[in-house]
Amino acid sequence: VIRVQPAYDSADPFARLFHKAVRSQWSAEDVDWEAPLGLQPRQAVALTRILSPVYLGEQSAMYGASAVIPQLAAAGETSAQLYLATFLLDEARHFEVLTQLYQRLGHHPVALRELPEMLRYHHRLRQGDRIDWMWGILISDLFARQFYQAFAKVQPAALFGRMSARVLVDESRHQAFSHTYLKRVVPHLAPERRRALRVMQSDILRIMESIHRRLRDDTEALGFDGATFLGELTAQIEAHARSIGLAAEGDGAGGPGGGAGTGPGHTDWAQLIAGKRAASLAAGGVIWPVAQAQAQPPAPAGARRRHFAFDLRGLAQDCADCFMAILCRSRLARARVARA
Ligand SMILES: [Fe+2]
Ligand SMILES: [Fe+2]
Repeated sequence: VIRVQPAYDSADPFARLFHKAVRSQWSAEDVDWEAPLGLQPRQAVALTRILSPVYLGEQSAMYGASAVIPQLAAAGETSAQLYLATFLLDEARHFEVLTQLYQRLGHHPVALRELPEMLRYHHRLRQGDRIDWMWGILISDLFARQFYQAFAKVQPAALFGRMSARVLVDESRHQAFSHTYLKRVVPHLAPERRRALRVMQSDILRIMESIHRRLRDDTEALGFDGATFLGELTAQIEAHARSIGLAAEGDGAGGPGGGAGTGPGHTDWAQLIAGKRAASLAAGGVIWPVAQAQAQPPAPAGARRRHFAFDLRGLAQDCADCFMAILCRSRLARARVARA
């Protein structure tokens, strides 16, 4: 449906998010490509491999947005349509900077024939209408945000850490959009439609678990605890599902293993990042630490506690600055700081 002057309210929350996105643009030229990688050779290979689903995800998000924009126009949702134009540009930028990162690392991403789950993920996100896509992309953005956040916090002075810090701001904006959009529409959906969204959540998480199993050697080379990562991600998705009206309080049926209740606690992931960040900062904020046992002799218990408390303060401040502070992340991190 083409209208010469579609209804548009510049005070609409999506219009405000659109203005914010327009003001926040950056490009690959703003990245300091001379920054150190801070990775051992095996870790550089591992990064290119675990980055592959994220890399395809950036492109998949771009294609999805281009398909959803006409749907929003047909529904007369002009402000959401304008915002999504900036979302598309953001994903195009993420694709470009990751392409240049691959060139700098000197390795190729994993091929689809080696990791066919990447294609399954892409196709699952393309099923349904704009509401299905919005839920799928919210889950994807939560994954991307958690992934980039780890590198931004652990390697703040290295190339990928710096790049991740920039991408994170975009991903937070994406989450705010899809979360707000879904919060408006989900309460008006029929029960079977809501159930279909929960099925999609389970399907996506199952594919993520399968990807994790195939890339386990690489996550271990980086000292990542993939199970903790997925447990935390599941908990975050459940928090969003409850907030948008998709899941009742205590209903943790979204995850393949039964949802939030089965994964490790939120603070496990915070502790993991805090511990790695302390080791990286001791090396000037560049080096990605190897697995704990290889990295260095254990520090005295008192020293470990000091590092831990410092890093949680940093986490809590970041969360306070972030407009996704509605999540349990900030409340739990603040509680830990208060006790430290
Ligand atoms: Fe992205
Ligand atoms: Fe995104």
